[in-house]
Amino acid sequence: MKAIDWSNIGFGYRKTDYNVRCRYSNGKWGEIEVSSEESINIHMAATCLHYGQEAFEGLKAFRGKDGKVRIFRLEANAERLQNTCDGILMPQVSTELFRNMVKKVVELNKDYIPPYESGASLYIRPLLIGTSAQVGVHPASEYLFIIFVTPVGPYFKGGFSTNPYVIIREYDRSAPLGTGRYKVGGNYAASLKANQLAHEKGYSCEFYLDAKEKKYIDECGAANFIGIKNNTYVTPLSTSILPSITNRSLQQLAKDMGLTVEQRPIPEEELSTFEEAGACGTAAVISPIERIDDLERGTSYVISKDGKPGPVCTALYNKLRAIQYGDEPDTYGWVTVLDI
Ligand code: PLP
Ligand code: COI
Repeated sequence: MKAIDWSNIGFGYRKTDYNVRCRYSNGKWGEIEVSSEESINIHMAATCLHYGQEAFEGLKAFRGKDGKVRIFRLEANAERLQNTCDGILMPQVSTELFRNMVKKVVELNKDYIPPYESGASLYIRPLLIGTSAQVGVHPASEYLFIIFVTPVGPYFKGGFSTNPYVIIREYDRSAPLGTGRYKVGGNYAASLKANQLAHEKGYSCEFYLDAKEKKYIDECGAANFIGIKNNTYVTPLSTSILPSITNRSLQQLAKDMGLTVEQRPIPEEELSTFEEAGACGTAAVISPIERIDDLERGTSYVISKDGKPGPVCTALYNKLRAIQYGDEPDTYGWVTVLDI
């Protein structure tokens, strides 16, 4: 294992030894290549550079107390990537190719998987780009699929603690029938100004309402919204948000804990009724929300009255983390175990 201060790594890029690559041309995927290069050499007219033919994924591997490595919901990430591929006309990566490449890159970089005690993990970043030249707006005929890994700590500096959010109306992240439901780079480019604005105003993240009516909750930065009240788990139903795999997993765990799960449009005003709320995603699992300010309306929806994470979010967070690290049984077959 590498000599890294595992408990103090943030959520950033850190070089590892290898990445894996696969090229698509003449209508088919080639062989998996192992590379130790951090850079790629592509045509200046590649479609990924001009017309946004770019998709990515994000998943994690965890080292357990038993020394084994567990990759969380690899198949679900492969399926979401396939969906994204259909959305922006890129060739699908089969679940089998995705699985083989993920396993290979994790094995090759096993010295970078943080130890159990650190609470850190290995972030796995698959990336698919159109590489052949086009000047007209058309999909590429050639593609490159790369997976790299990097050890990460918590996404937010404070770890599992509450954060303030601010509703931003000046910028939309995605349109109702646009690409918000796909994991493509353009959505994140569209979020940069809103995120900067939120930071400038002293908030940890921006909060989006639906782009059409500005009436319903969409997402919290690059994470799904979850709200808890009356023993019910509520999360938005919207065509412009990313279907979060963490959210889907938490819904299952919430049902197991006896909560009712509702996926439906959530009007902004309903924020005043939640006992707890959080932003959920691979990076943070759940990042509990302290309050959400609507500066234009002069309203502050204070969710955590004492500034601390609530009991339901805490229980869900602990349960999901326990499954990921192998401390609790994986009853839903979410985990791929590697003996490395
Ligand atoms: N929403 C957006 C916009 C995201 O980028 C992510 C992160 O992947 C999520 C939600 C959470 O999705 P997941 O739980 O699959 O990581
Ligand atoms: C998440 O994993 O929750 C994310 O939002 C990923 C982000 C770094 C793009």
